[in-house]
Amino acid sequence: MVQHKCTRWAIDLASWHPTLPQLAQAVAVIQSEECERLMKFVFLDDFLSSLVGRLLMRKFVSAHSDVDYKDVRFARDARGKPYWLQAEDKCRKQLSFNVSHQGKFVLLAGISSETEMGAADAAPTTNTTSKVGVGVDVMKIEYSGGKNLADFFRIMKRKFSDSEWRYIRHPQHNEADQVKAFMRHWCLKEAYVKELGVGITVDLQKISFTVDTTRELDVVTSPLTGTTLRCNDLPENDFHFEEHLLQPKYCAAIAFKNYKPEFGKFEFLNIEQLLVATEKASDVEIVEYCRKALNKRRKA
Ligand code: COA
Ligand code: MG
Repeated sequence: MVQHKCTRWAIDLASWHPTLPQLAQAVAVIQSEECERLMKFVFLDDFLSSLVGRLLMRKFVSAHSDVDYKDVRFARDARGKPYWLQAEDKCRKQLSFNVSHQGKFVLLAGISSETEMGAADAAPTTNTTSKVGVGVDVMKIEYSGGKNLADFFRIMKRKFSDSEWRYIRHPQHNEADQVKAFMRHWCLKEAYVKELGVGITVDLQKISFTVDTTRELDVVTSPLTGTTLRCNDLPENDFHFEEHLLQPKYCAAIAFKNYKPEFGKFEFLNIEQLLVATEKASDVEIVEYCRKALNKRRKA
């Protein structure tokens, strides 16, 4: 018997203006190759979002394993999807997680799966087809592309199926409704391909969502959980989707593979919950690195 537990965490970075010691605490636990990657961001906002994504992954793994926050190690697969480098002798626990950041939000969705004591011996063969997985995406609900919306939709035509366009461009939808419907579909597609780990290399028009229309997607009553998916015109029944509205202008979607969690909302964490004091934070190189990062420009 495998027990699953779902985690949904959100961080709103709008009011975080990191001090040098705070940033040093954060950076001190990040692997060197990731520090190199982070430094390539032009804007401080992107640097911080990506950094906080790494911290969320670290908090998730340490919360669901006996590995200390500072000692968690991650790698990336060939397409860049991060995974936990788990010690082989701790294989009773399986952790799936995924991070997304856009605008001021950074999200993590995770599943912790544990085989109950004795069950592994009773059923030594693992059914790989029922392996759980998760993908998450967050989008700001705004259109700032310059062109008028109809022209933008024309450019995006091949990214959505005919039935998805019928919903997005529903005659009763005004422009704001259309942008919201567009972003909701985009989020769902991203969450799905992020679970697969393939990035946007698939034909998005063949991935067709029917959103849950039993209720409006709003902050108080979300998530909506009745969304369905057809791939290449066949129902995709191994997946379960959640659509969240974090704030009126931010939607998020989670794709769960082989797992339907109990109804639940994102838990909002604050940045202090991701910072731990370490001696390494006072290393000269770390402090210099953080000084350089804090000199990056903010987005307008
Ligand atoms: N699948 C799932 N998650 C991935 C991923 C992948 N292939 N690659 C990275 N991620 C995770 C990381 O945690 C990443 O955070 P980071 O950039 O700070 O490291 C996070 O997802 C980014 O997600 P999000 O903030 O939602 O970004 P996005 O909306 O731009 O979408 C991808 C992310 C991965 C879907 C998108 O960048 C993409 O299409 N990448 C193409 C990857 C690919 O296939 N490359 C081909 C190489 S052979
Ligand atoms: Mg995204």
